[in-house]
Amino acid sequence: MGRMGRNETSYLDNNATTPVDPRVADQMRPYFADHFANPSSDHPAGRRAKAAVDRAAELLGELIGAASGDIVWTSGATESNNLAIKGVCEAYRDRGDHIITSRTEHRAVLDICEYLEAIGLRVTYLEPDATGRVAPAQVAEAIEDRTVLVTVMLANNEIGTLQPLAEIGRICKQRGVLLHTDAAQAVGKVRVNVEQLGADLASISAHKMYGPKGAGALYVRRRGPRVRPAAQIHGGGHQRGLRSGTLNVPGIVGLGAAAEIIASELADEQRRLTALRDRLYAGITAHVDDVRRNGHATKTLPNTLSLSFARIDAEALIGRLGGVAVSSASACSSTSEGPSHVLRAIGTPPEWINGTLRFSVGRFNTPDEIDRVVERLAGAVADLRELSAL
Ligand SMILES: Cc1ncc(COP(=O)(O)O)c(C=O)c1O
Repeated sequence: MGRMGRNETSYLDNNATTPVDPRVADQMRPYFADHFANPSSDHPAGRRAKAAVDRAAELLGELIGAASGDIVWTSGATESNNLAIKGVCEAYRDRGDHIITSRTEHRAVLDICEYLEAIGLRVTYLEPDATGRVAPAQVAEAIEDRTVLVTVMLANNEIGTLQPLAEIGRICKQRGVLLHTDAAQAVGKVRVNVEQLGADLASISAHKMYGPKGAGALYVRRRGPRVRPAAQIHGGGHQRGLRSGTLNVPGIVGLGAAAEIIASELADEQRRLTALRDRLYAGITAHVDDVRRNGHATKTLPNTLSLSFARIDAEALIGRLGGVAVSSASACSSTSEGPSHVLRAIGTPPEWINGTLRFSVGRFNTPDEIDRVVERLAGAVADLRELSAL
């Protein structure tokens, strides 16, 4: 970050992961070697660690409108999605065998759905419109007597599109169906309140919000209705039996610290991210022609810009961008899955998918940095188009 010389980098891939905020790292540091005790231990050092974990649950709860007792600590959003979706299907199997999701979910939801289909459950995949949104009416139509869960993400990692979750939540409540949302990309970028959304379960990841990797949480509603997913990790009965294993105290403290910073800075940060994102878009479209923007114009994350460049191969473009870190598709999945399932689901033609870059700005980006990226990108696109014209 900072000035972009030959060897310097400009990190515009904050949807893949964020750096740990130095203020978060400071909060975490004492919990590695000084206050290292096991929070399950009944001695002063253990109680001190437990108090830190309880405080983190309060801070995260305050950010999302939940009580601290509604928070289950996990290793990240992938694990939270597994506990929520598999856990609910298993616990409520006598009530039903059908779940509803959308085509643009992260692989950490779609792969779980495919697994559940393989063991005999039924899944309805809602088709999004060209902006990536599903309509609440589609959810209403898809609900059956045997539906136990609707799982729809709050914000999409590739194109930023926000789903009309509060309306979906009202429908689920009316019909007595539980609602889970993968909120990994939303927390820290837009206001998330589980009560307003009507979410019964919500997945959160620390490393998407300037906290550490390997820490996450699942919000689980305990009242109106009380939700009790079946544990997916069995062991010492930690966390009321919902998720066993010694707690990752530094990671949890980091997630709490990250939540506290967001709660106090979100309004300003949203304006700043929007300005950076819009500056990037204006700069690119002023210098590069034949570009199309993917996703929704307004119902979108403030930091995310998905652009398709005509007559460009995204990998080749990334190769020419030097120190600019951007993503060609979903950099969240470790294996390349071919052309983005999200872009395909919204009907992006294959030749445009091939030339798509996702820019995701973040807390440590600056306007000057954006201008330098625009300059470098415009040069790289021009070079590649010239080469392909030869
Ligand atoms: C929407 C969404 N869900 C889930 C995940 C997985 O999160 P984690 O890396 O915390 O397991 C990601 C990113 O990787 C994501 O963008």
